[in-house]
Amino acid sequence: MAIVVGVVAETSPGERRVAMAPGAVSVLNKTGAEFIMESGAGLRAGFPDSEYVEKGVRIAAGREEVFRSAEVILQVRGLGANPQTGGADLALFRSGQTAIGFGEPLTALEAARRLAGGGVNFLAMELMPRITRAQSMDALSSMATIAGYKAVLIAADSLPRMFPMLMTAAGTVTPARVLVIGAGVAGLQAIATAKRLGAVVSGYDIRTAVKEQVESLGARFVVLEMESGAAEDKGGYAKAMGEEFYRRQRELMGGVLAQQNVVIATAAVPGKKAPILITGEMVARMAPGSVIVDIAAERGGNCELTRPGQTVESGGVAIIGPLNLPSTIPYHASQMYARNIATFLKYLIKDGKLNLDREDEIVRETLVTYAGEVVHPKVRELLG
Ligand code: NAI
Repeated sequence: MAIVVGVVAETSPGERRVAMAPGAVSVLNKTGAEFIMESGAGLRAGFPDSEYVEKGVRIAAGREEVFRSAEVILQVRGLGANPQTGGADLALFRSGQTAIGFGEPLTALEAARRLAGGGVNFLAMELMPRITRAQSMDALSSMATIAGYKAVLIAADSLPRMFPMLMTAAGTVTPARVLVIGAGVAGLQAIATAKRLGAVVSGYDIRTAVKEQVESLGARFVVLEMESGAAEDKGGYAKAMGEEFYRRQRELMGGVLAQQNVVIATAAVPGKKAPILITGEMVARMAPGSVIVDIAAERGGNCELTRPGQTVESGGVAIIGPLNLPSTIPYHASQMYARNIATFLKYLIKDGKLNLDREDEIVRETLVTYAGEVVHPKVRELLG
């Protein structure tokens, strides 16, 4: 029997994405998988049912039917990533069913326990290892790309200045100065977007290995005269540094910040709270009318004044802490997410059957619950 893949509408308040886009259905063509989708699931992302039907997807009248028919359920925000309304699905899941989606596995521990209790095998997209083999399945990177882009649009919209330099009959308009802190996936996209809008852009990161990437986008790489030692772990992510390091970094950063009109903060260390790199004192040195967009807000923020989901004003500087930016560009966010999740699912299907081979690195790293137990070592450790 063909494996049946279910796609349900997102129920998290304000969420506009959908886990499968019509264009990504064909990724699974050769596996023999069949799709069933809750009617209207793609609407808020800009995909009507008819586009799915064209790709051979069966439309179910209700959510229950999807849960009843499918062996695998695809979601954007699974239980752990949807604390408000995700719990309702627990009554619909069957033991032995597999769920794939975001689930904040390292913080939403109770959700993992409940999924295991219901016999649901859960694979968390956040845990996708950043290895070459899994690059096309890396949804965090896809979403960070979108967030980096949108952060710059938000900054441009809030800034009382223009981004580009203009020479007009009414005089010359000087370009905005933009600093992007953290040149990972989101940061590099922010740099590219700010450049396209005509700003004078600099980028900063503790991993000096990214200097070339920053410069290749036409931005200046900011060097703070300090010893960072090995700032990168073997996974290519930033390591958490000592308090003395962060103190010295803030001291030097203050001078750089005072010259900027816009700061886009994206610095992150996986599994940790975002490092505080911008203090209130540093904000006070910035000119009124400057804008900080802190997309690390979801994990506490890079600026100590950031309030997640809010805009704070301090001495004429706006500090914006947006949440869930990918959902504000749901069409492309869904298209990219769907491509990632479909590629992942294709990888998991062997000879037409779902094969959760725990010897495999990608499965082992992403599998949170299996056969009634929490199996991910890190999640187990956190659960004690
Ligand atoms: P990433 O891991 O690719 O990049 C983070 C960068 O920060 C790395 O290059 C790292 O070296 C750098 N970094 C770490 N500590 C630093 C320090 N002390 N000083 C300077 N740089 C430092 O992460 P990615 O995927 O680019 O995500 C960035 C942030 O954006 C994360 O906090 C993520 O949660 C957030 N995000 C927010 C969204 C939203 O809607 N608000 C959506 C998607 C991502």
